[in-house]
Amino acid sequence: MLYLFSAALFLPQAGIQACPGMGIIMNNNSSNKNTGEVLLQIRDLSIGIHEAGGVYTAVDSISYDVYAGEILGVVGESGCGKTVTNLAIMGLLPDVLFVKGGSILYKNRDLNAIKPAERALLNGDEMAMIYQEPLTSLNPLMKIGKQVGEPLRIHHKLPKEKIRERVIEVLGDVDLPDPEEIMERYPHQLSGGQRQRVMIAMAAITRPRLLIADEPTTALDVTVQAQILQLLKRLNRKYRTSIIFISHDLAVINQICDRVIVMYAGKIAEVGTTRMIMDSPAHEYTKGLIRSIPTMDQKGSDLHCIPGHVPSTTDDKLPCPFADRCTIGEAVCRKEAPPCLEIEPGHIVYCHCVSGQRQ
Ligand SMILES: Nc1ncnc2c1ncn2[C@@H]1O[C@H](COP(=O)(O)OP(=O)(O)OP(=O)(O)O)[C@@H](O)[C@H]1O
Ligand code: SF4
Ligand SMILES: [Mg+2]
Repeated sequence: MLYLFSAALFLPQAGIQACPGMGIIMNNNSSNKNTGEVLLQIRDLSIGIHEAGGVYTAVDSISYDVYAGEILGVVGESGCGKTVTNLAIMGLLPDVLFVKGGSILYKNRDLNAIKPAERALLNGDEMAMIYQEPLTSLNPLMKIGKQVGEPLRIHHKLPKEKIRERVIEVLGDVDLPDPEEIMERYPHQLSGGQRQRVMIAMAAITRPRLLIADEPTTALDVTVQAQILQLLKRLNRKYRTSIIFISHDLAVINQICDRVIVMYAGKIAEVGTTRMIMDSPAHEYTKGLIRSIPTMDQKGSDLHCIPGHVPSTTDDKLPCPFADRCTIGEAVCRKEAPPCLEIEPGHIVYCHCVSGQRQ
């Protein structure tokens, strides 16, 4: 109740409203590809962590939707909870982490409650993930062709010849030259960019409804990075695959995503279409991230950075976890959790002082 109560205490500026339904982000039709069909609903998801002899919170009561066919960016500094949120969606949290509360609904089925056998049918078929480290995510002892075809062998039980055809097709889709020759190689015989393409091919071969790409371009040079982004866009269009694209780099998010979620210290700070976030950011953290994007006309001057650092999971957190780094914060930010405000349809911000004015 705190969010709605707190938002109602002060008169909002014209057009600003408390979020409908406790911060649940409602239908947003402003993305051109967004048909409004919700594929995934995250509701009040909290993820706990066993650390230093205690139990702490890595992700704190977050809610959002993923629409069919969209590319949704998730951005935030290191340690904000981007990866663990998405590992929870895949049911792949390591032992020290656990879902503390909330739900993850995929096509209205609660993924926290499904049986391991049902989960095994989903992962690698309808839902797939490209991990942060392409080299360590590939089996060094298995030839590329066999690895890429494995999801089809396990999930679709296709005959060998059919699998081979599909592997050749998907390696071509990800722009790997001479797929038949690549199939015979081992991961260490490929470059970093080629390995990342193989990871994408393996995730895409079943034509999943949802693809989670966790920093898929971080280790790549800018030319290969641009090619991989184009490739993900193409797969999104060709198969209408929804993509959750995780990055700490808003400039990269800006190139590929329809909508963006900004995360800070395990919470959502702001959500909107990419244009809303880039052109009219409302949260001070988002503004800081945008100011930190290097530009050509900055040559010779210091790059902007947000002073301070993200609190660790074991630190005591303020009601607004960004309060220690925020230049416009007020006393209330250290006493009450920020309200969830919808400042225009589909543009959500969790802050006491949107546009520098207390709400
Ligand atoms: N396997 C793990 N064991 C212990 N703590 C973990 C583990 N994985 C994540 N954490 C902690 O959970 C919090 C969220 O981590 P997460 O990996 O989701 O961050 P991230 O936003 O993906 O960061 P990055 O940009 O560095 O990948 C961090 O404080 C991190 O230290
Ligand atoms: S709630 Fe307060 S401290 Fe947090 S971002 Fe908004 S103004 Fe800054
Ligand atoms: Mg991560």
